Amino acid sequence: MLRHITRPKAKVIWSRFSLPRLDGSFSKYSNLVSSPIKIKDYNSSYISIEFQDSDGSNVTNFSNFFLRDSCSLHNISIDPSSGQKLFTTGKIPTDIKPAKEPLIVQSENGDFFLKIQWDEVGLIGKESLYSADFLKKYSVFEKRRRGKVFYQDKLFWDHQAISKASQEINFNYKDYMDNENDFFCALKSINKYGLCFINNIPQQLFNSGSSNEWFIEKIANRIGYIRETFYGKLFDVKSIPDAKNIAYTNNFLPLHMDLLYYEAPPGLQLLHSIKNKTFGGENIFADSFHAATYIKEKDPQAFLALTTIPIAYQYHNDGEFYYYERPLIVEHDTVDYSTGSQIIKEVNYSPPFQAPFESGSVVEGKGDLLKDYIRGIKLFENFINDPTNQYQLKMQENSCVIFDNRRVLHSRNAFEYGESKDQQERWLKGCYLDTDTFMSRLRVYHEKLN
Ligand SMILES: [Fe+2]
Repeated sequence: MLRHITRPKAKVIWSRFSLPRLDGSFSKYSNLVSSPIKIKDYNSSYISIEFQDSDGSNVTNFSNFFLRDSCSLHNISIDPSSGQKLFTTGKIPTDIKPAKEPLIVQSENGDFFLKIQWDEVGLIGKESLYSADFLKKYSVFEKRRRGKVFYQDKLFWDHQAISKASQEINFNYKDYMDNENDFFCALKSINKYGLCFINNIPQQLFNSGSSNEWFIEKIANRIGYIRETFYGKLFDVKSIPDAKNIAYTNNFLPLHMDLLYYEAPPGLQLLHSIKNKTFGGENIFADSFHAATYIKEKDPQAFLALTTIPIAYQYHNDGEFYYYERPLIVEHDTVDYSTGSQIIKEVNYSPPFQAPFESGSVVEGKGDLLKDYIRGIKLFENFINDPTNQYQLKMQENSCVIFDNRRVLHSRNAFEYGESKDQQERWLKGCYLDTDTFMSRLRVYHEKLN
């Protein structure tokens, strides 16, 4: 459910401007002195708004189509209780334009609005209002997505950078659970570095019958709903005989991501270290986005091949047959406004679950692309396996790592059992969350606390 959107009560205090006619002619007009927005022009294509604020003065031409589509007229364009749209974009007339001169109006609480009466059947006599804040937000590319995607806050790291961020990525369980600000900081760290650690979790009781007594569930539910998979809602990472997954052996586990054979792999993975006194078994993490940007800069042709040739991933075992193809690197269709280059959306690397390539099995004029691909994957693997680009630690018992499974690669050193009872068991409890669930919580806390 969307939150209730309140339509402001607007009063035209005064705002008769002498404005251009629909044929585009222009004549002199006066303005509301204190208004941060002024109408410079309007015609059959757009309405030209001049902004005057601390950023200086600039003019944006908003298309009539965009403004009509963004209309929030209650019971006509937007349902007032759900905030959901009541019309489809396809219903907007191709030649939509104001039926009469648009105006700047001021609400009783002093906010300024652009007021338009559209020449659309069904809207005759109705007034669409657009706040100065809304117009300002949509006039600047980077502001439109602020509070929604948080890409600008990501920091690609190597060993040195993540080691320096120790304070930023470590949280006390109690603070994470009880303090709104600490919890928000943990969410921001997951977005920024792709991982954080929750420490000093109370001792887990092992004979609890009810799953809601698992601390990992409490940590996950603080963010949102757990993503259930064929491993269950919660899963155990323990060594077992004849394991169907190499994670359940005591062998070295290479850097990888989980569940890439799903159409929508989970966004976050949580691992709660309950017993970890065996010898070795350190966890290793690496930032794949850093590796991808490195390749893009060093060898653009190889980078292109890595975004083009799909890798087949599968889990064909134990009565299951999951299968999905995806390239190593996937970019967003939008660009980072500060660098002008495309934003990396996700990386897909999980060698243990790779199936034979579907594309590239037969050479069909793709020879060069395959060579580029092989060069690229070598660059990628050399980068992520270089200890100067890794973060390695032996997870303390009663701590939990939360990491971005679409960005941060994880691995585990081999481990050996010792003599004592404590040294004969390694037990991590895990679960997943979807990216949507995490991003929703991050946006909500950004609105609430930023
Ligand atoms: Fe894994």
